Amino acid sequence: MDPTDPHTAAQALKAGGLVLMPTETVYGLAADAANPRAVAAVYEAKGRPSFNPLISHVADVGMARRIARFDPRAEALTARFWPGPLTLVLPAADTAAVCDLARAGLDTVAVRAPAHPLARALLQAFGGPVVAPSANRSGRPSPTTFAAALEETGYAAAAALDGGPCEVGLESTVVALLDEARLLRPGAVTRAEIEAVIGPLAEAEADARRSPGRLARHYAPDLPVRLDAAAPAAGEAFLAFGPAPETARTFNLSPSGDLKEAAANLFAMLRAADRSGASAIAVAPIPHEGLGEAINDRLKRAAGFVG
Ligand code: TXA
Ligand code: MG
Repeated sequence: MDPTDPHTAAQALKAGGLVLMPTETVYGLAADAANPRAVAAVYEAKGRPSFNPLISHVADVGMARRIARFDPRAEALTARFWPGPLTLVLPAADTAAVCDLARAGLDTVAVRAPAHPLARALLQAFGGPVVAPSANRSGRPSPTTFAAALEETGYAAAAALDGGPCEVGLESTVVALLDEARLLRPGAVTRAEIEAVIGPLAEAEADARRSPGRLARHYAPDLPVRLDAAAPAAGEAFLAFGPAPETARTFNLSPSGDLKEAAANLFAMLRAADRSGASAIAVAPIPHEGLGEAINDRLKRAAGFVG
């Protein structure tokens, strides 16, 4: 198929097939949210525990209202950040539109309108909500290029859309608006940006079922990961941040110390370091401000520490 044709890919979704879908954050493995068989195939392709609910992707706020109940906070956040890398967990409106399996049996639904033009074209052509977890196999770094997406779960996809490298490179921010507004997953939209719209965010609850994606070892390369390293030890690859000597196994997330650039490079460089022939991956300290919160969240999980 033509890997830039959203209509063929929408047909594949309608037929119950899976589609590799580029988004501005990471590539997703997409399926018709209403089709439990297709959703089961997503879990199977990823090797994901089936208690982990999926995000429903929509073309616009109108489509979101068919599946989720909006309150004034949801109105304000979507007006400011959609289309874009913000996922809201809301009470489910019509529980049939997103099957039970996609919601992992919860009466809530995670919804986001991605900004990538090819994702938007696919969602418009399909005409309904599409679930899409990151297209990696469970526990591995999310794919941020078409090649990495094909390598992870391409074998299970009926169609694949090539949207080029992902501009953001980190998954969407997940905010639950059930009682208090809670940050379930730090991401591309920063805590400060959200708080500027709806006020202070409560912390995610320790209850893992509220945010099952927050597993201890997640986003992980095969090699061990050592954080806050001033410099690599012998045999280690190095993920640098800021000025650093160039060596064969140094991957500089951002030589100028720019967090946005570092986020965009993070998963691709973790993959490259993993393949460099090193014995482990050392990672330079990343400042914990702005996007740094999300980068450090992913790095902690790549290293196997609970956040
Ligand atoms: O940027 C992204 O969000 C990417 C792209 C493809 O859109 N998708 C993505 O999906 O990261 P996934 O499945 O890897 O992560 C979904 C996160 C998980 O942490 C999951 O636990 C949480 O959203 N989630 C989904 N539904 C939920 C719900 N009803 N309640 C609480 N958390 C939920
Ligand atoms: Mg994921």
